[in-house]
Amino acid sequence: MGELVYLDHAATSWPKPPEVAAAMMEALLHSGANAGRGNHSLAVGAGRVLVRARALLADLFSVSNAQDIAFTHNTTMGLNMAIKGTLQPGDHVISTMTEHNSVRRPLEYLRRTIGVEVDYLQVDVNGQIDLLELQRTFRPNTRMVICNHSSNLLGSVLPVGTIGDMVKSHGAVFLVDAAQSAGSLHIDVGNMNIDLLAFPGHKGLLGPQGTGGLYISPHLDLEPLMHGGTGSQSENSDQPTVRPDRYEAGTQNAVGIAGLMAGVKAVRSLGTQQIHLQEWKLTQRLMEELSAIPGIRILGPGLGSQRSGIVAFVIEGQDSATVAHRLDREYNIAVRAGMHCTPLAHKAMDTLLSGAVRVSVGVSSTEEDVKRLLDAMIEMYGAAGTR
Ligand code: ALA
Repeated sequence: MGELVYLDHAATSWPKPPEVAAAMMEALLHSGANAGRGNHSLAVGAGRVLVRARALLADLFSVSNAQDIAFTHNTTMGLNMAIKGTLQPGDHVISTMTEHNSVRRPLEYLRRTIGVEVDYLQVDVNGQIDLLELQRTFRPNTRMVICNHSSNLLGSVLPVGTIGDMVKSHGAVFLVDAAQSAGSLHIDVGNMNIDLLAFPGHKGLLGPQGTGGLYISPHLDLEPLMHGGTGSQSENSDQPTVRPDRYEAGTQNAVGIAGLMAGVKAVRSLGTQQIHLQEWKLTQRLMEELSAIPGIRILGPGLGSQRSGIVAFVIEGQDSATVAHRLDREYNIAVRAGMHCTPLAHKAMDTLLSGAVRVSVGVSSTEEDVKRLLDAMIEMYGAAGTR
């Protein structure tokens, strides 16, 4: 069967650079105390890890004050903090049909419980929204616009800078889900008018699971989602007002964050643009050669268009879970099939019943990985020889 070919980077990147595991081991052994709780040198060491990692992330996203980044366990947590900390009864939200359940479920929860109103903008076959429709959908009570930077099903990339300008001109809050873009697409929160940026540590930033963050514009005062100990203003029964403590109740994952810091350093040394280009080339080859398989439909932007490292497809008459299962069992190739926690995107693509097979490349993916996948697919489903 050959070595494992891992093509599920959109779920989590793997393998991590060796420096990530080394940094985690180092942190566990040599700064493994509780950051912000105690003045002894081990605790101070753990605190230093958090400070340095925050500064590195601030630099990556052009955040001017690193204290405006709060660490989270994952993107979902950041999105929940942003959505539930902002919206109030009577608010209206504009989002899109390509959002992940991490956006949709908190929104639907708030719709049910406090009567928040939500519009999900339709997307075309390329996964793009109509900017004129966005403009028309604003209401006087539109409090928030929420969109992903790149769809976790289609790989499409939304023009967040343009959207950010529109949101700003309407005085609403702009929340961007960077689950599929942090580390591989350029993000500048100031230039893009992003007020809230939720990002994972364990995908394109190459850190371990259990890490992520939320950038919170200094102009916003989010209600904290979590209340509890912070090691600061302990006499006060309210959450501290100072950042990031206000949004970081409980012991922080210093070991994981040490790994994240090593991951971000690896991303910085390769360069976001270079990573994107390398991944994009692999997606183009995948698209070109997969298209020779009879009955295949590749979702999202066409050849030559911008996309993140995701290529999802359906094959007429084939169940997506079976395709993924066969790739795993017969060829030792890991991809993800099904709904990808984004049923609205599947609805928009008319793949709600079939689901889709999603192949996603990452920084460690190679031409050889892609060839193994293509050979397996052609062996299973045939192709009019294009290679
Ligand atoms: N949101 C992740 C994915 O798309 C887990 O697979």
